[in-house]
This record gives sequence, C-alpha cells and structure tokens, in this order.
Amino acid sequence: MEKANLDWKNLSFGYITTDKRYVANFKDGKWGEGSLTDDPNITLNECAGILQYCQEVFEGLKAYEQEDGSIVTFRPDLNASRMMDSAKRMEMPSFPAERFIEAVEEVVRANAKWVPPYGTGATLYLRPYMFATNPVIGVKPATEYQFRLFGTPVGPYFKNGVKPITICVSDFDRAAPRGTGFIKAGLNYAMSLHANVTAHANGYDENMFLDPATRTYVEETGGANFIFITKDGELVTPKSNSILPSVTRRSLLVVAKDYLGMKVTERPVKFSELKDFAECGICGTAAVICPVGKVVSHDETVCFPSGMEKMGPVTQKLYDLLTGIQYGTVDAPEGWIHKIM
Ligand code: PLP
Ligand code: COI
Repeated sequence: MEKANLDWKNLSFGYITTDKRYVANFKDGKWGEGSLTDDPNITLNECAGILQYCQEVFEGLKAYEQEDGSIVTFRPDLNASRMMDSAKRMEMPSFPAERFIEAVEEVVRANAKWVPPYGTGATLYLRPYMFATNPVIGVKPATEYQFRLFGTPVGPYFKNGVKPITICVSDFDRAAPRGTGFIKAGLNYAMSLHANVTAHANGYDENMFLDPATRTYVEETGGANFIFITKDGELVTPKSNSILPSVTRRSLLVVAKDYLGMKVTERPVKFSELKDFAECGICGTAAVICPVGKVVSHDETVCFPSGMEKMGPVTQKLYDLLTGIQYGTVDAPEGWIHKIM
C-alpha cells in the first residue's frame, strides 16, 4: 500500500483533509442510504438546529496499522453504542450500530493511504458525528439530521508525547449535576474552552474538573478520564455520573485486572486523597495514557512520587499492554480488535 507523503513521526494532533468521508441523512423519521463523498465541506441552512441550539453529538476512535500491515480499530462497538446514548440524551435519532461500524470500515478502506505506517506512533483518528440540519427557531429538537464520519492522521495529543504533564484544578465546571457530562456532545467541549485557554495561559497543560455540585471529588479533564495507582499497586478511577464513560478507561480496568492481576476500583475519589496516590494518568482515545506529574490548586500542589521525567512504572505497564493490544503485539481479549483490512 502506497502511503501519503507525510512526516508521519512528527504529526501533531491536528486536522488534515483525507480523500473520502461518509455521509448519511435522517429525514421523515428514517436514515437514508449512506455513501462516501469527496467533499469535506457542508452547506447548511442559516437556521439549522446545530447552528442555533447546538444539537450535535460525536465520537472518537482510531485506526491502527499493525506490524503485518493489517489495519484495525479498537472496540468500535463501544463507540457506536455510546453515540446512541449521547443521541438519546440530545433528543436525536440513533444511528444503528451496524451502520456505524460499516461507515468506519468504508472510511478506513477508502483512506488506507492516510493510515500512518506501523512504528511511527501515529494513527488515523476517526471522527463520527451527527448534527441537526433543518431550520429550527423555537427551541425544540430538529427533525432532520446528518451523520458524517471522517478520518485524519494524528500524532500525540500532548506536544511532548508521553512526558508527565502538569494540570490545574479548574475554577470553572465542565458539566452540571444531572446535566450532559456523561455524553459526548459538542456543547460539553464548548463549555470547556474558556477553562482550557485559561489553563494554558497560566502555563498548565490541562484542567482537572471537580464535581460541579460540591467541588470535592475528582471528575475528569476536558478530554480524558483519570486513573490513579495507589502505593499498594491498586488502580483507582473516579466514579461519577457526570463524566464520559471512556472506552480507554473501561479497557484499562480489564487490562489491569486480567493481565496484571491488579485490584481495580471504580469509586468517588476525593481531591484531598490525591496526595496519597503513587501515580496519576489521564486516558482517552486521543490522549492514550498520559502521565500526570503534578496537580495544582489554589490551596495546594500535589506532586506524584513518579515525578516529572517519565511515566510511573505501573502506568508504563498499562500503556505498553494497551498499545500492544491495539498494535497487535499483545493478544487482545475476544472482540476488542476489529480488523478492517
Ligand atoms: N472524557 C472526555 C471528556 C473525552 O472527550 C474523552 C474522549 O473521548 C474521554 C474522556 C476518553 O474517552 P475514550 O477513551 O472513549 O476516548
Ligand atoms: C477523544 O479522545 O477521542 C476525544 O474526543 C477527546 C478530544 C479532546 C480530542
């Protein structure tokens, strides 16, 4: 397979226009047949529901080239079902899971030359999304929607790759109690932008959001869930109904338990407990697992014993196993790897 002419090892997490993307429209209560298109642009009515009331949901997953040249995705069924959950909360129609998987396959096959070569550390990031297309001026759900899916080759989400990052506790909330924090809707990310810009302006890589009701418990960052390793080698991850159920985090719990024999616990995690953990990381499709070296709040700075130079030893093992499963060098649990070509 001849690949596109890109500097694969130095890609950032950015958008590059690839050849084909998938489009399907929902009208008169049903989804039309989808197809691939060359056109990366969208023409919409000025009053489209997405433009006025932000009715949109999305997903994120990656296609990986393995050592033998196969191209695979990781647990796309979980992205398909999470997108349905998101759509339901946003009063949008479900895009059927089997069609979601077909769209992933079609886009990856049509853009195989954009799937970064094995060993470069880069991947083809896939972005499925759905938005309201018909004019809506009274506040109500639209009746017409478009589902699209494109791919873009990406490198690491953080510019220093997997060097430990420093994060700050945000003064702003990302999600409301009983709000939309548990779904993947663009509006949650719009909410996080001011916090993000503020954190960067203050020299931090990311935000730690606390629970919006009491600001006592750790929630997540703007784009990844937290994992903590205790001094006894247990994996602890925050449980909350206002964080996104990360596919990466759910997978890491299985990897930690079944591959490393670790104790894993999902429970509310108090900010005041942070100082007792040995390692901290954030995990997600884009972030993979990025170690956190330091967390700064107005009152205190928590420096994890794993330090600012490299990942903690347990985080490193989890990282190696997860990426090994994704790149095919470690045996995957049944059903986790979806081979496309
Ligand atoms: N939390 C948020 C807010 C996210 O945007 C993401 C990214 O999708 C994650 C967590 C990680 O989820 P996943 O591992 O499914 O990519
Ligand atoms: C992902 O990890 O897929 C996300 O959607 C996170 C986003 C911040 C890029």
